[in-house]
Amino acid sequence: MMRNLIDEICGEFRNRFGSDFVLVEAPGRVNLIGEHTDYNDGFVLPAAIDKAIWLAIGLNKVGRIRLVSVDMDEEYEVELSSDLKKSGRSWPDYILGVVDQLRKHGMNTVGFDCVFGGNVPIGAGLSSSAALEGGVLYGLAELNNWKISPMKMAQIAQKAENEFVGVQCGIMDQFASLNGKEAHALKLDCRTLEFEKVPFRDPDFNIVLCDTGVRRELAGSEYNVRRSQCEKGVSIIQETYPEVKKLRDVSLEMLEEHRDKLDPVVFKRCEFVIEENQRVLDACDDLLKDNINAFGEKMYGSHHGLQHKYEVSCKELDLLVEIAKEVDGAIGSRMMGGGFGGCTINLVRTDAVEPFKDIVHKRYREETGKDTEIYETTISDGTRIIEREDNL
Ligand code: GLA
Repeated sequence: MMRNLIDEICGEFRNRFGSDFVLVEAPGRVNLIGEHTDYNDGFVLPAAIDKAIWLAIGLNKVGRIRLVSVDMDEEYEVELSSDLKKSGRSWPDYILGVVDQLRKHGMNTVGFDCVFGGNVPIGAGLSSSAALEGGVLYGLAELNNWKISPMKMAQIAQKAENEFVGVQCGIMDQFASLNGKEAHALKLDCRTLEFEKVPFRDPDFNIVLCDTGVRRELAGSEYNVRRSQCEKGVSIIQETYPEVKKLRDVSLEMLEEHRDKLDPVVFKRCEFVIEENQRVLDACDDLLKDNINAFGEKMYGSHHGLQHKYEVSCKELDLLVEIAKEVDGAIGSRMMGGGFGGCTINLVRTDAVEPFKDIVHKRYREETGKDTEIYETTISDGTRIIEREDNL
């Protein structure tokens, strides 16, 4: 089925632009645990998955950027002028943002063509936009012979999103899509950008994603509000502890000392982040000790905090987690990504996956009148070139 889509993408490229292109596979990502910790300089535990965007990219001599989205059946074209402006549409901006950032880093590309499509559900919290940014960057680096490490690419893609698209996201999504490793979760220290590959293949457990179908854009929304609440907390704690730079540096005791000076909402936001960061470290220990049940418990704990303290969940996400709790063999479940919609990530015993799916479908429909899409997923490698046309 994927082969058909890839053939369609390559065919479309050849029809429109000729045959000089590379084909890039750029995966979506899951995050096992560690939500809203990345922009607080904390730890996250994401992984690239077997759902991806495929991009055929080639340079052209016409000084234009010509883009085609196969599955949205849309195109966008713009002159590669010195002053790239927002397209006024959603997806082209992720690509234009990357070009804009590359320039700011002193890397100028000539015009290029890109045809892409994929099976990462859009707006479902699986980072289709990070995949698109990373994929374009990877392809352009290959075509222009730029030597940029995947980590540097993640930083550039994150900045594209911060500065051009206008979402103050952290680095997790771009990092995971670009650096993924088959059968491994990536424990990333978002301060030092050092990461460890943590083996995550247990034949007895599957990662299952349940999609609420609820879609909320992150831009200009509550996401940026949460960030500023964390910064607010830090600025007050810094008055006593000037060495504190981010919530990563704050313990629960230090936070407690400032309870009276902090707005109660800011207090609970900070409390969540500090606890969540510790949960990532503890959950990684659980994995090393092969204690997958303890890992699953921490996923439930993470959701509880996201629901009640960070308040980025929604009733559909909470419902999916409640349903999971009722199913024997679903050992962990939580909302994933920025929040307010998208998917839950569930750790389900392999022999319980089919009953889990049946129960979730049925109960979700009963309670909401809507259907949920359920995706079984495996952990895959990060962004890479999968084909080069012969004459390149
Ligand atoms: C979004 C952002 C990430 C991260 C998560 C929450 O996915 O893009 O940087 O902050 O939300 O953990």
